Amino acid sequence: RQTRATSQLYRILSVARKLGDAVDRVVVLGIGGSYLGARALLEACCHPYYNELSRAERGGHPRMYFEGNSVDNDAIQGLIDLLADTPTRDVAGRWAMVVVSKSGTTLETVLAFRALLPVLRRSCGDDPDLLASLVVPVTGQNGRLHEWARSLGCQDIFPVPDGVGGRYSVLSAVGLVPAAILGLDIIKLLEGAAAMNIHFRQAPPGENIVLDYVGLMHAVEQKRGATIRVLASWNKALEGLGMWYDQLLAESLGKHEQGATPLTVVNTRDLHSRGQQHQQGRRDKIITNLIVDAPRVDRLTVGTSDFDHDELNALADKSLPEITDAAVTSTNQAFAEDGRPTADLHLPRLDEASLGQFFQMMMLATAVEGRLIGVNPYGQPGVEAYKRHMAENLNI
Ligand code: PA5
Repeated sequence: RQTRATSQLYRILSVARKLGDAVDRVVVLGIGGSYLGARALLEACCHPYYNELSRAERGGHPRMYFEGNSVDNDAIQGLIDLLADTPTRDVAGRWAMVVVSKSGTTLETVLAFRALLPVLRRSCGDDPDLLASLVVPVTGQNGRLHEWARSLGCQDIFPVPDGVGGRYSVLSAVGLVPAAILGLDIIKLLEGAAAMNIHFRQAPPGENIVLDYVGLMHAVEQKRGATIRVLASWNKALEGLGMWYDQLLAESLGKHEQGATPLTVVNTRDLHSRGQQHQQGRRDKIITNLIVDAPRVDRLTVGTSDFDHDELNALADKSLPEITDAAVTSTNQAFAEDGRPTADLHLPRLDEASLGQFFQMMMLATAVEGRLIGVNPYGQPGVEAYKRHMAENLNI
């Protein structure tokens, strides 16, 4: 019988607390659905310069780095340079690894694990018990990583639920372990997702955000050839969330020569790079603005300058959120004048509850759209083909 103390949530929170007390850096290894959700959560819910903050400013939570998502020699070497390999009792010099792979065989993740494990071992002074306590695997029940973790003596191995593919796993241990390590409120995250489930089940079409989103996207694709879905975030903090959505849509529906092409942009930055094409290029796009209604911190105003070289004193009392609102309105006006479709999606604020709602909304929408267009949104046979050829070419 499951009790509070044996529940997975409790175990996740306990491990996060233990690691937070023991180390100052955590490296999360994983690729695709095994890392994009955690990265999105860090970027959206933590300070924009989180890793630069002092331990006290981070609330005592470790810095976080992501690897195992490429085979980039210099990137991995760079991380090794950063991580101490000499034993120390000082928490500031200690680090740990969370290694996430459902299959336990993904080359990028396993390679990085191989490269970093000896560094971590040295930093533990070759103490096997300490090493085992600083490696937290999140993996399928029977894969090679599971066996590896057991042979290391890892005490805390978290499962990736059966039947849940990587890109649908952010609300399992895959996303929750890193989020809890960052000190994020994972209960609020899950409550946000649960609220979206209830909304999806109960709200009628026309008031159901999941069905309405799918209906609109499908209609503009069918009727107006909008095969490219641009997710335009108006917050830098949501770029990672956009990358998560890119993968969800692309890997779920990009099959049998079907499925819209996702593209994340961050405005106003990308108005100065992609904006021209979106305004006057091919008519194959719908732009969905992802707008956060309330800033997390105090509003910065334009302010008065003695010299007024830029002639912005006229805007002295305007805040940056007001300028953002004007930018969204102006961009939508410009697109409308040219007959370019846009939609607005609002998050009330950047917090765990809103993120939970967004994750769940988009996962439901993708599954619904898969059914609508007759594509199985689960599985990724195309990616498996690349993995197979890699194995052949490397003779493994
Ligand atoms: O969404 C998916 O299923 C994929 O992107 C996987 O997450 C990715 O290929 C990594 O696989 P694994 O977790 O088995 O290492």
